[in-house]
Amino acid sequence: LSTSPMVVVANRLPFILAKDSKGQLVRKQCAGGLVTAVAPVVVETEGLWVGWSGLHEEDSTGEIPEADPNDQSPTAGLKSKQVLPVCLPKKKFDDYYNGCCNATFWPLFHSMPDRAVFQADKWEAYRQVNEEFAMLTVEAVKKLVNSNPECIPLVWLHDYHLMMAANTIRERCDELGLPIKMAFFLHIPFPSWDIMRLFPWDDELLQGILGCDSVGFHVEDYCLNFIDCCQRRLGCRVDRQQMLVEHNNRSVSVHPLPISIPYERFVNLAEKAPQVVKNHDQEQLLLGVDRLDYTKGLVHRIKAFETLLQKHPEHIEHVTFLQVAVPSRTDVKEYQELKEELDQLIGRINGQFSTPNWSPIRYIYGCVSQDQLAAFYRDSSVAVVTPLRDGMNLVAKEFVACQTGEPGVLILSPFAGAGTTMHEALLVNPYETNEFAEVIHRALTMPKDERELRMKQLRRRERERDVNFWLRSFLKTVDCLSDDSVTQG
Ligand code: UDP
Ligand code: G6P
Repeated sequence: LSTSPMVVVANRLPFILAKDSKGQLVRKQCAGGLVTAVAPVVVETEGLWVGWSGLHEEDSTGEIPEADPNDQSPTAGLKSKQVLPVCLPKKKFDDYYNGCCNATFWPLFHSMPDRAVFQADKWEAYRQVNEEFAMLTVEAVKKLVNSNPECIPLVWLHDYHLMMAANTIRERCDELGLPIKMAFFLHIPFPSWDIMRLFPWDDELLQGILGCDSVGFHVEDYCLNFIDCCQRRLGCRVDRQQMLVEHNNRSVSVHPLPISIPYERFVNLAEKAPQVVKNHDQEQLLLGVDRLDYTKGLVHRIKAFETLLQKHPEHIEHVTFLQVAVPSRTDVKEYQELKEELDQLIGRINGQFSTPNWSPIRYIYGCVSQDQLAAFYRDSSVAVVTPLRDGMNLVAKEFVACQTGEPGVLILSPFAGAGTTMHEALLVNPYETNEFAEVIHRALTMPKDERELRMKQLRRRERERDVNFWLRSFLKTVDCLSDDSVTQG
């Protein structure tokens, strides 16, 4: 697929390491859009992956175990020699990951500046940890060039954790005479200039990203925001039509590259998955699947469901809301508070509306396997994907891929990247509770022919524009798509 061997650099490895009951170090799968999308690509192109294993210097030997022979996950094919773990002291990593990535960039880039904190020491830790990632990446490049001196490795940096690594990688590789191409892809939104300028070190950050040759975002709006920031903050010459930014006598290309899912894999999972147990045959399931994160709009969604039960009591005992909430960033106060709020809200609604045979909300606080998720997606009448802000949202796409039986309805927020292309979904503003409840009612009562028509179009688009399409589009931006793939594509 790729003409160059690839070094993927991301905060996380595509699995975390933990000890099993016998004290053996094993790989464990973790949820998250980035891992689901990128892991199959690295396996396929026999690349290297630089990232954090979930262990700190204090409790790691640096050993990476091979995958379990029964492992069916997208990362099973990744050999331990393809993995370079970043291992840092706990305090330093914590200041970078929780202190800066999760407490500053995550809320800021999701346009929630009131939740963002700006601290010089956390920013300093971020820069230092980016240096560490950069140095390990140079090692990875050396490894590839040593085994094939003709090659020009493609370094692919991912997400808001690694916006300051590119210049160090470039300078060090130049010094060592190692040729590389370098690209960056952001998996979350890129905010407008009005928001970005709140960050006290925005100029350094923008220059950090501009260290790459090619910069990708999910949708055009995020690209234009980035170009705008470069022009207004750094005074760069820009071309919005061609999406180019000139910086330090280099031209950096900017690309809208909407990420997607391994569509056929989800279809296969849905075809094999056992039936989800319902209270009765006529029961309709309303489904939510999210990390427990304040950007996902969980509280707004549950309040809309409560309004639905109040305004349309005919759904009582006939509709159940199944919400999967994956524990996430549990060391951060905002996430702990959200968990408390949700527990109370769900408890109150279940207490108020439950009957002897039925409870309105089934709430799973935990990570569910993708086989199980495929069954949930397939057997639900309605999926409610209503973030307040979201880079893309893969759950919306996985839901339509798994709709292999009776067609259901997708309710989608226009504030997710997915909302810009999945036109046949019912779009709803999650902040408008009454309207939201009415849209759920409409979805639950939609005639079959309309459901069929909408779902058919949604499925066709996702089948054609799957994760391989995304990957090929990315490789084209860096001139690394092999000729075979062009003819296949
Ligand atoms: N996911 C999972 N198990 C769960 C819940 C979610 O494997 O219990 C996966 C889901 O299949 C999807 C990803 O987590 O691929 C979530 O990606 P999304 O883009 O929707 O949100 P993110 O978590 O990246 O913000
Ligand atoms: C989002 C981010 C990813 C991140 C994932 C899970 O998808 O874009 O970079 O890995 O959330 O979050 P975590 O903090 O647990 O890695």
